[in-house]
Amino acid sequence: MRAIALLPLALALLLAPVTGRVGAAQPQWIEHASRPGPDRPPLGVSRFDELFHDPQHGYRIPYPFAALIDALAARVTDGGVRRAIIPRGRSLQRDAAAPDYFRLPRVVIALEGEPLTRGGDPGRVLEYRLFIAHQPASESLEIISYNDAAGRFEFQIVDDYAAGKRPRARPARRAMCLSCHQNTAPIFSRIPWSETNTNVAVANRLLAAAPERYGSLIGLVSNDAGVIDVLSERANYLSAAQFFWREGCASARCRAALLRAVLQYRLAAEASFDWHDPRFDADFGRELARRFARRWPHGVALVGSRIPDRDPFAVERRRESDPLSAQPPQASWRRVDPVLTRGLVYRLAGFFTQADIRRLDAALRAGDRRHARQVHTAHCRVVAIDDSAARVHCGDPAAADRLRAHLEIELDDGVARRARVQSLQVPGDLNLWQPLVVAARPASGRLELELGAAEGLSLRLADGSRVSHFELHWDGDLVAAEPGLEVGVSREFTVLDSALDALLERHRRGQASSLATGTFERRRLLDELLPALGVAAPRWPPQPRPVIAADDPPPVTLDASLALLEPHCGGCHRAPGLNPPGFLAGPAPRDRIRKCAPRMLARLYAWRSQSRLPVAPMPPPATFADGGAHWRASDHYRELLALLEDMIDPSRLAAIRTGSDYTGLPACRFAD
Ligand code: HEC
Ligand code: HEC
Repeated sequence: MRAIALLPLALALLLAPVTGRVGAAQPQWIEHASRPGPDRPPLGVSRFDELFHDPQHGYRIPYPFAALIDALAARVTDGGVRRAIIPRGRSLQRDAAAPDYFRLPRVVIALEGEPLTRGGDPGRVLEYRLFIAHQPASESLEIISYNDAAGRFEFQIVDDYAAGKRPRARPARRAMCLSCHQNTAPIFSRIPWSETNTNVAVANRLLAAAPERYGSLIGLVSNDAGVIDVLSERANYLSAAQFFWREGCASARCRAALLRAVLQYRLAAEASFDWHDPRFDADFGRELARRFARRWPHGVALVGSRIPDRDPFAVERRRESDPLSAQPPQASWRRVDPVLTRGLVYRLAGFFTQADIRRLDAALRAGDRRHARQVHTAHCRVVAIDDSAARVHCGDPAAADRLRAHLEIELDDGVARRARVQSLQVPGDLNLWQPLVVAARPASGRLELELGAAEGLSLRLADGSRVSHFELHWDGDLVAAEPGLEVGVSREFTVLDSALDALLERHRRGQASSLATGTFERRRLLDELLPALGVAAPRWPPQPRPVIAADDPPPVTLDASLALLEPHCGGCHRAPGLNPPGFLAGPAPRDRIRKCAPRMLARLYAWRSQSRLPVAPMPPPATFADGGAHWRASDHYRELLALLEDMIDPSRLAAIRTGSDYTGLPACRFAD
């Protein structure tokens, strides 16, 4: 039910897409590459470490990559690992396999579906929480995976991912990753994903390069890239959901009202929730609106994660297609409106597993039985379809807010044996439900149905109450009768309300923290809410504590004239490596800088409007809070230009300045 459908994308409507240009007064970015945060997790661990680091043996990362995929597929329903092959892309690994691009392509995987667990293990949400890229030529993995406690994605690299070696993960230099992953989350190209195996031309080349691996074109061309695109987009909204949870509410009461709506929505099988409930507006909506107006008078925006599509066979390059170019927002909010408040509920809902919700559902059913029950009735008429089936229409179609239902009933020798409920509308609830029939109990003159929703949940209305009874009764022959319908509704969501009240009380006494300022964290919420419902808190597996190797190469000692390059270039070019090139690394950086000078200079000229360089300027614009405007006007910038201009034959400067022949400039690459 929660599978990712390509189109139409219902969720796309829920948080406002950007409609006009962002005006002069800039909205506040929720995340930004200029604020990368620490490389190591400030608290908690990455999902990847939770899965593949074990306290006794350290990292145990399945190899080869197919084994890693199998291990992940065994952890989600329907083996939900999606895979895109990207032989010629724009990632950091794009040149690692040169010239064998099609024989050793990069592969990106992402997960969807519910976690499969054993015993009492509460599992972990995996859908759009783990993204892995593999490049065999560099024997490495790039990983972006969620850290529940810190409420952010961790960026990691696995080295030595090869036969006979011991692969280990280390935190990547976050600031460097964020120069492209600007919203601190995955990025992916727009439809039609031409760089991937969705493109038949790409698939053909892959097949020609390794026929034994892929077998046939049919098996190779897939829509997975489209699914990864959607998963990546949803991953990007997690930061927005966390931001408004953390910053949008000032009080635990406000967060409790938001959580209440989230659970209502999940308990109603993600069909609806009761946004008319006064608590949603009074406790949450109004507090959010007050804070929003005061703290973000120019609005709030989320950095875009969808980069332009690019034809991998095209010779021409465009600067907009470079993922290092500053990305426009993918969503922005000027004020608090239903699109924001409801969208927030839908996004936070994804933090719980289906098993969590089934436990809650069961707790509500088993809870205090003193809550109210209501019974609604309607008159029905029967239309025979043939000897073995009839339609039953209940309720007056003209009377709004009355019980209404349409059923199809199978008759066996005149006895009603089975039924389908095509639609059901219950007074006080605006939705038209299509419930599942979990059990049918036929008797003479009676058919009682037990209704349910998808994924083993009870059938619940938007306000969380349960349809607890559904019975059709008639005299004599059904086809000739005018049956009556009786539907019972149990107002048992009050059980959850009492639990939330108790949890708030514990916050007042300083005994709980899940609703205090901080991350929306499934584990803490369940640990504090379930006992309040009389259910034992889950038994969580022990948290891994990986010993993390330092990844910060020491600053190199550059002689006085070159020291200018350390600030603003050192952070990303000091470490040895193919990409970004380590031109400040090694024992003789001067030689390296000489070799790179033409490209360095071209990247610096790219800040000027005259430059038509088809790639982004350096340092990457997104790494400046103001997009680089101040730096471009600084003495430092002018001195850097002068330093590099001095290293280059003056006759070549004009061409470098216009950026007309970037690929013709000497490569800036070091094999270390
Ligand atoms: C020069 C730009 C650039 C930088 C810098 C960069 N990436 Fe990426 N990355 C991409 C692009 C483009 C994609 C999507 C297409 C692809 O995978 O080829 C991507 C995809 C990924 C993916 C697959 C999930 C996704 O986002 O689609 C992972 C995982 C990843 N990168 C990790 C990292 C890590 C870790 C770092 C830092 C060490 C990093 N990247 C730095 C450009 C970059
Ligand atoms: C925040 C990180 C970051 C900073 C700071 C940075 N760069 Fe880069 N640079 C990158 C990344 C990432 C790449 C790889 C780009 C790619 O793969 O397209 C790169 C690539 C380059 C390249 C190679 C381009 C090519 O065509 O191969 C040059 C030259 C360069 N940077 C120059 C500079 C200079 C000069 C500075 C300082 C003035 C600088 N960079 C600062 C991240 C950075």
